[in-house]
Amino acid sequence: MKLKDKVALITGGSSGIGRGICHAFAKEGAAVVFVGLSEQKGKRTEEELLKLGCNALFIQADLADRSKLPSIVEMVIERFGKLDVLVNNAQSSINVTFEETTEEVMDLALNTGFWSTFILMNSALPYLKLTKGKVINFVSGAGMIGLSKQASYAAAKEAIRGISRVAATEWGRYGINVNLISPIANSPGVERLQVEHPNAYNKMVSLIPLGRLGDCEEDIGRAAVFLASSDADYITGQTIMVDGGTVMVR
Ligand SMILES: NC(=O)c1ccc[n+]([C@@H]2O[C@H](COP(=O)([O-])OP(=O)(O)OC[C@H]3O[C@@H](n4cnc5c(N)ncnc54)[C@H](O)[C@@H]3O)[C@@H](O)[C@H]2O)c1
Repeated sequence: MKLKDKVALITGGSSGIGRGICHAFAKEGAAVVFVGLSEQKGKRTEEELLKLGCNALFIQADLADRSKLPSIVEMVIERFGKLDVLVNNAQSSINVTFEETTEEVMDLALNTGFWSTFILMNSALPYLKLTKGKVINFVSGAGMIGLSKQASYAAAKEAIRGISRVAATEWGRYGINVNLISPIANSPGVERLQVEHPNAYNKMVSLIPLGRLGDCEEDIGRAAVFLASSDADYITGQTIMVDGGTVMVR
């Protein structure tokens, strides 16, 4: 029970990697609050977590609505009285070429990924100071490598990496750890890629040295458990590649 008595807030927890993290955290004893867009998917995941004996709460919210973000943190405090772990996992984006990237396309990626991460981190800071908490933000090899048709996604993800390292520097004095996970896993987002952009999907899978897509709970969720636990107390400002070796090994 590596996360016994911990309270975690996870964005995009209804499906994919976020859902995998919710399950992994629940099995390690954490109380789990997660945010999602779809009422139906959120309720379904909440049911699954309650069945595991987890103290779970689903908050339906559009993370692109900046004005609502501070109230999400307040809901966690109202219900559980504290916050130990913030996981910024949610992200939306559209894959188009650089020249097709309109301001609307850029706004979607920045609002759902970058702005929600930045505002939730600042809203959570007073509470994370009290618990010497942990922040885990999600980034992507697509941003590091500069994959084609990912300008808005790359912008959001590398902006998240930049502010996370600054926060790691500034918040170390409070005992707060800020780390990043760069995953590859078989989420619905990747399944959509397989249908909509089969060439990009096939290329991605062929470049994974470990020869398979990661599992949302067993691979990515477990890595997040490690970063959220006291086992990672001396790790901060790091990008942990949980991608089967894709970016660093060729
Ligand atoms: N799956 C991969 O292989 C992969 C690779 C690199 C990076 N990532 C990153 O990992 C994270 C999770 O990826 P995934 O594949 O599970 O994604 P996904 O698209 O399957 O799920 C994203 C989640 O974010 C939520 N979300 C999106 N926009 C939202 C909004 N406006 N308000 C509330 N919730 C919103 C969705 O409802 C969903 O639950 C993302 O940050 C993604 O960029 C994933």
